[in-house]
Amino acid sequence: MLNISNVPTHIAIIMDGNGRWAKKRFLPRALGHKAGVDALRDVFTTAENIGVKYLTLYAFSTENWNRPQDEVIALMKLLAEYLGKETKKLHRNNVKINVIGDVSRFSVKLQAEIISAIELTKLNDGLFVNIALNYGGRDELVRAVKKISNDVKEDKLEAQNITEKILSNYLDTSGMPDVDLLIRTSGEYRISNFLIWQAAYAELWFTDVLWPDFKGAHLIDAISDYQNRERRFGKSEGE
Ligand code: IPE
Ligand code: IPE
Ligand code: MG
Repeated sequence: MLNISNVPTHIAIIMDGNGRWAKKRFLPRALGHKAGVDALRDVFTTAENIGVKYLTLYAFSTENWNRPQDEVIALMKLLAEYLGKETKKLHRNNVKINVIGDVSRFSVKLQAEIISAIELTKLNDGLFVNIALNYGGRDELVRAVKKISNDVKEDKLEAQNITEKILSNYLDTSGMPDVDLLIRTSGEYRISNFLIWQAAYAELWFTDVLWPDFKGAHLIDAISDYQNRERRFGKSEGE
């Protein structure tokens, strides 16, 4: 049973394994990605029911541009279709959609879909769904440093006053709490450049389940495991 008073506020998921899911079924990788998108529905419903506040999903990394062009194109098409088709439904469910990452590299059409999804849902106060698109933790830090340098140059900020809190405010996740629980599917044990700052003290949970097979029940498994951990933040045991 879950302890409702200790649900992680911010869960981040590295949704990995779409390609292997398709390969096992002798299907093209694009169909694995499609099945990956379909897996979101159950996860959203469960997250909402349990009372998770923030869900950050790694959908496309800065490194994923290095995949074959046809796969990148299929992913972009899927993203635009997803936003076009699902945004209204998410809005009805009071979901607030946000995007982190550098979307300026996407097509004008996809950027427009992103902006309209954010705009439509901006006043919602249900589940906050953060989609990481063309996101890389290192790229995010580089962009933050550029903005900081610019503000220092324009005398809006003094270099000696920069704190962790101030730096956080220059990240794409500005105003959001740190990640409490980071989940990665498909049996890979790495961070792959995801939320390297925000997940500094996250609890990590790995599963062999491939992303398209991931269900709300797996999310509950991850949360109940999280509830048995002791988060120390550098302190001694039980302090
Ligand atoms: C994750 O699945 C989805 C994206 C990275 C866009 P993969 O496509 O990485 O699936 P595997 O790791 O090849 O199985
Ligand atoms: C991480 O998965 C990125 C996303 C899930 C969007 P990858 O499949 O790209 O990661 P690596 O290359 O195996 O580390
Ligand atoms: Mg992968």
